[in-house]
Formats: sequence, C-alpha cells, structure tokens
Amino acid sequence: MKKTIAILTGGGDCPGLNAVIRAVVRTAVNCHGWRVLGIEDGFEGLLDKVRWRELGLDSVRGILPRGGTILGTSNRGNPFSYPQIVNGVPELHDVSDKVLDAFKELGAEVLIAVGGDGTLKIAQGLYEKGLPVVGIPKTIDNDLRATDVTFGYRTAVATVTEALDRLHSTAESHHRVMIVEVMGRDAGWIALESGIAGSADAILIPEIPYRVDRLCEAIENRRRRGSRFSIVVVAEGATAYAGKKVVQQTAAENLGVERLGGVGHEVARQLDGCLDMEIRVVILGHLQRGGSPEPFDRILASRFGVKAVELIARKSFGRMVALRGRQVIDVEIAKAVSQLNLVDPGGELVGTAESLGIMVGR
Ligand code: F6P
Repeated sequence: MKKTIAILTGGGDCPGLNAVIRAVVRTAVNCHGWRVLGIEDGFEGLLDKVRWRELGLDSVRGILPRGGTILGTSNRGNPFSYPQIVNGVPELHDVSDKVLDAFKELGAEVLIAVGGDGTLKIAQGLYEKGLPVVGIPKTIDNDLRATDVTFGYRTAVATVTEALDRLHSTAESHHRVMIVEVMGRDAGWIALESGIAGSADAILIPEIPYRVDRLCEAIENRRRRGSRFSIVVVAEGATAYAGKKVVQQTAAENLGVERLGGVGHEVARQLDGCLDMEIRVVILGHLQRGGSPEPFDRILASRFGVKAVELIARKSFGRMVALRGRQVIDVEIAKAVSQLNLVDPGGELVGTAESLGIMVGR
C-alpha cells in the first residue's frame, strides 16, 4: 500500500497557496511515490460532509501562477470551538474528535496544514490529540514570529504599493487627502512597507496609537509647503491614542472571529474636524489577497512545500516550516503560534519611515 498524506489550506486565502499545494504533490509523488489527498475548505472539509479529492500530478498542472487555493478554504470552522445551533441558540462546541475520526476514515497518515495563526493553532491542538501534523505558514499579514516572512505577504505589499501609485495622481489632481485602509489585523507590516514603497505621507499602524492633532498638523504643514494633497495609509487594526479598535463585527457576532474594518472612515471623520480639505477614503479590502503570487512568494511557497514533505519523510511531526535568513528550517508549531510578529515601534523600519519625513502617528 502506498503511503498516503493529506493537505488542507485554512484561514484567509493568499497568493502562493496553489504553489505550495503543487510543491507538496510533486515532491510527494516524484520523490517518494506517495499518494496525496486534498481536503476541501480547510477543517470544514473534515466536518459534517467530509470533502476531499485525490491530488495527482495532473491536478496541480498549471496552478503555480494562480491566486487563491484550488482546495478552497475557510476561516470559520475551528473544530475546538465550532458553532452549532442547540435549541435554536448558537453555541460553540469542541468537535475535534469528529475531525480525528473523519481523518482516520480517509486512510491518510499525516496532515499538512497550510495556514496562519488560527489554522496552525488548530493543527497543534490535533497534534496534541495524536494526529501527525506538519504546518506551513501563510498569511498576507506577516504576523507569525517564527518565520522571517510568510508567503502571500510580498504580493499583498506589491498590490497596495501599486494602488498607492495610482492614488497619488488623483489625490494630487484634486488636492485631496486620500485615506487608504489596508489589511493586516493587529500587525502593521502591510501598511508600513507599502506606505514606504508607495511614498505615503502618513502611515498609521496598530503598534503606534496615532495622535489626531499631530496627523492634522503634518498634513497642514505639507499644504503650507505647497503639497496640496496627502496620502494616509491606515492599517485596519490602528487605533487613535486612547481610542478603540474599529470592528465591523465582534467575535461574538461573527462565530468567534473578530472582523476588523472601518478605521479609514474614522480617520476621515477625525481629520474633517481639523482640516479644511476634501477627504476621500479607499478601502482596499480583499483586493490585497487576490491575484497571482509575486516570484518571491512562488519560490518561498515551493520551498516550504518541499520542506514539509521532507519533514514527513523524517517523521518529524508537530513542526512548522519557516524561513530564517536564507535558510528554510523547521520549528515547533507550539512555539511558532505562541507569539505574534509585530512591528517594533522603535525599530529600524519605523525609523526609516520617519527619516523620510513620513508621519507615523506620533
Ligand atoms: O488574515 C488575513 C486577513 O486578510 C486579514 O488581514 C483581515 O483582517 C482578514 O483576513 C479578513 O478576513 P475575511 O476574509 O473573513 O473578511
């Protein structure tokens, strides 16, 4: 009997997921002669109606440049806290045993879980219950401490940078303040790096609570110096000094997952109170997650896929692949998910922005 492994993609999609699936299938089939099963829609595919498909070399042909994931994904179905309606009332239940039973039925020996913080925490929980697991980190947010960078992030930064380039000309022509809200959850990486690359005038990130008065002053100063427009990049998790995170839905309202969004409009309202300029808000939203992966992300995803299969061959479970310097290494998933990778407010990158004259909220 051929050794069988399974792979799923969980959490929000990002560019590079198909590259990783392709790398896993090619390495498993070509180098080891294994069989690969693809579980559909993240952990949802192991609940209720079990959904999977065989992944052979043919099924991964031509998918390297494609965004999204051919397996589908979900950022809802956490089996350790799964929403179920009991007597008409939604309750959260631990249905992880159901997932383990469904996995046993598949006849696969190991699960490769490709995901961000949430998916990898679930994978670790299942590993602790006896499932052999290997993790692969992905997210546009770049918020995992254990790896220098996640795939998907560089493509998102390129997408936002291009948007900023485009917004410059219209902001300048209309003499407007353009507020550009970007994703990233509690990490300001997308805002900071794309803001520097796209020549923003102000960058507001969750790691540095912003002062509205200073932001107004910075835009006013620019106007006095003859620049009658400004581009403000605001990360969705940014908060005003002594203010609160702006959420679209709280975790309680959205099956245990907090949905951020709306801070761009909040900043617009705040600026409206102190500036006599036209203001527009652009929310880039899911545009940042779509599209073909940049070469860097294709290569990193491919390296991660190959390394994950290598870990399985070595029977090294409960581990996640990661990039450290130029090397792809592996780390304990438990350690990898215990700390977020946040921007250092006193670090070199923020310092670079400030030296360039970019206002960073303080
Ligand atoms: O984690 C990736 C991410 O795109 C975050 O930046 C964002 O807050 C969230 O997912 C959006 O999730 P959804 O697709 O559920 O709106």
